[in-house]
Amino acid sequence: MHDFQYANGALHCESVPLEKIAQEVGTPFYCYSQNTLVRHFKVYEEAFKDVNHLICYAVKANSNLAIINELVKAGAGCDIVSGGELFRALKAGCDPKKIVYAGVGKTEEEIEYALKSGILMFNAESSQELFAIDAVAARLGLKAGVALRVNPDVDPKTHPYISTGLKKNKFGISIDGALEEYRLAAQMKNIQLIGVHQHIGSQITQVSPFVDAVERLLAFVEKLKGININIKYIDIGGGLGITYKDESPPLPAELAKEIVPQLKKSGCTIVMEPGRNIVGNAGVLVSRVLYTKKNEGKTFFVVDAGMNDLVRPAMYQAHQGIQPVDHAVADRPKLEADVVGPICESGDFLAKDRILPEFKKGELLAVMSAGAYGFSMASNYNSRRRVAEVLVKGSAYHVVRARETWEDLIRGEKTIG
Ligand code: LLP
Repeated sequence: MHDFQYANGALHCESVPLEKIAQEVGTPFYCYSQNTLVRHFKVYEEAFKDVNHLICYAVKANSNLAIINELVKAGAGCDIVSGGELFRALKAGCDPKKIVYAGVGKTEEEIEYALKSGILMFNAESSQELFAIDAVAARLGLKAGVALRVNPDVDPKTHPYISTGLKKNKFGISIDGALEEYRLAAQMKNIQLIGVHQHIGSQITQVSPFVDAVERLLAFVEKLKGININIKYIDIGGGLGITYKDESPPLPAELAKEIVPQLKKSGCTIVMEPGRNIVGNAGVLVSRVLYTKKNEGKTFFVVDAGMNDLVRPAMYQAHQGIQPVDHAVADRPKLEADVVGPICESGDFLAKDRILPEFKKGELLAVMSAGAYGFSMASNYNSRRRVAEVLVKGSAYHVVRARETWEDLIRGEKTIG
């Protein structure tokens, strides 16, 4: 459920008509619902209430300060993957003791920043990274909390670009070799082994891959006990999918029902890293139809948002729903059309071969389910300014990121004279 609904024939975010925001802020813009966002987070809190847990919102899904801040105020920690995300999480008020840091390529500069900030743990992905963390921590006279990211080799049954827990993926340390890595890390003076981590993929729509992965992880935790390594945190990653079209992914409570009893027996605190599931359906991208055209009988709605603003359709052939902002448009005859942007690439589409009502020049449409991996993957390609982001709370809206200016586009650049 989300808070983008029609009232009096107009698509609203909570109590604010999107048309009003479009008039005042201009288009395109991302619009997020504070109510949906926080409700989705609370659903996780509720689902896992029977076990000690920490929900670390995956900042990569949507890293706007206001979004992170709303979740932090509701009690969330953060899962980060770069120094930049750490900077954002701290600026948004996240308690460093609730921050976990994953990623295969952490630089020494980033490791130092995280250590000095006092984060909860690094989710380390290779033995060379362990050496790097240990060395930086020794230099700073600090101890680093570390979990190793274990790759459990389960198939999350999702798009190949976003499955991460298979042997052939670059992520983590193979579960077969991981015990050795823990032995190695246990020797390191400035590393404190406090956890184990996994993340098997994204947009997962079944419970079974999670159940398989958790079983393997728990068996591994037992092996660790066997060599006298007693960890405190089991981080099961993120990845629960959302409904873009007709998927029916399990609810967090359904997932919890299957895995909490086993996890509870471990006595550990369970860390989770949901991103998409919290913010995906809490956001839409609103765009205006610039032109409509027909080529060889094919209809195109050319809109003012492009693949640089929302790359998911181009990159993963992802389906994003399209809805008219004025409901009356939905009553018009339907036709098959592409919704395309102004970018010089044939891959620049937001919807392809889609049955849609006949939009007219100047009308607004909402690209649904765009809150996750929308703005956070946006670029300035074709020297397009990144769009405004708006957060709605009740009957008020706030521009939480201003639309970029032409000057923003060339910040830091110079000619050589
Ligand atoms: N934890 C780790 C270590 C991750 O790598 C990810 C996502 C998450 C948590 C959050 O996963 P989520 O709950 O959002 O599924 N750009 C792609 C998705 C890439 C996901 C990368 N890792 C897309 O637009 O579908």
